[in-house]
Amino acid sequence: MKHLIRLSLLFVLLLAVTRPVSAVVFVHLSDTHINVTGKGRFSQESIPTLRRAVAAIRIIKPAFVIVTGDITEYGDEASMAAYWAEIEKVGVPVHTVQGNHDKPRKPERFNRVVGATHPVFDIEGCRFIGLNLDLADEALALLKEQLADAKAKGIRSVFTFAHYPLLAPDNAAFNLSPGCASLQGERALRYLALAQEGGIVAHFCGHLHSSYDVADPYTGILSLPVPGCVDHKGAFRVCSVTDGVLSWSVFDGSTWPLAILESVPPHVRSGTAFLEGKVSLQLLAFGPEPVLEATLGGVGRDVLPPVVCTTAGRAFEGTLDCTQLKSNFYNLRAHLVDAAGNASDRTWRVLVKGGK
Ligand SMILES: [Fe+2]
Repeated sequence: MKHLIRLSLLFVLLLAVTRPVSAVVFVHLSDTHINVTGKGRFSQESIPTLRRAVAAIRIIKPAFVIVTGDITEYGDEASMAAYWAEIEKVGVPVHTVQGNHDKPRKPERFNRVVGATHPVFDIEGCRFIGLNLDLADEALALLKEQLADAKAKGIRSVFTFAHYPLLAPDNAAFNLSPGCASLQGERALRYLALAQEGGIVAHFCGHLHSSYDVADPYTGILSLPVPGCVDHKGAFRVCSVTDGVLSWSVFDGSTWPLAILESVPPHVRSGTAFLEGKVSLQLLAFGPEPVLEATLGGVGRDVLPPVVCTTAGRAFEGTLDCTQLKSNFYNLRAHLVDAAGNASDRTWRVLVKGGK
């Protein structure tokens, strides 16, 4: 009862008919390893898994897609062309960088078939800088230029995307075990110095083929590798940027509906971003059918009473009153049910600076 009285004050979940004006929704995909050579690894599954991802992305309708390398297994022209033929079916701009499997030190074929070596674009006050880090000196020079230009133009939110992560498992100082490389040594320090000065929020990447979301402990810059598309059922990351705050959900298209908790940065290892005061929550749902019910609550010791929306839609708003919570980690869970009866749960771990 005490829980109910205390916690019923915490959430008021109201239906909102539109998403926040400032939100940008995009998809981060990686490691498709397309192989149409008829031999070797991924020759059977690479095209079907990419098609699965593309079908899901078409339902989400993001503003754009970034792809962080290893688009092919062998870097051959036929596989690059097959990659592009499939990925362009998402129907929105796609910005791709090369990975170590894409012959990254010789970008001419990639340039001819896919696009620029270091793609850069602006959208809704954000700048995205794609880097081929196998050409590290060139990439870091371009990064320096782009950050200076962004600063001159008053662009506040800058993101980078490349194949290699900034940090990888079992190592927090860039000295990596074989086969698990990240941006290393002096080049990592150069990146981080530029990134810190330029206010980079996050670095999207692949290469690890698994999740290892982590913040650089010295600069706070997020390193966000997404699970490999080819070996995780076409998985990808759906992201939103709202007023400079990045949020995301990783998804493989197997259970609709999907949701992002906009405006709320998920906690990652070594991350220090926290929520305090009264926080506006924006729950944005995606799926082939409209969402009829959305419940937002807590998981674990601090169970929050569910609040259900009963009107069809895909954007919901609520308020989290952190002043009624203790400083701690909380798992916020959304439960969604769509018009076809499909149900799914999504959970975000957040750090709260409470008032108790
Ligand atoms: Fe890969």
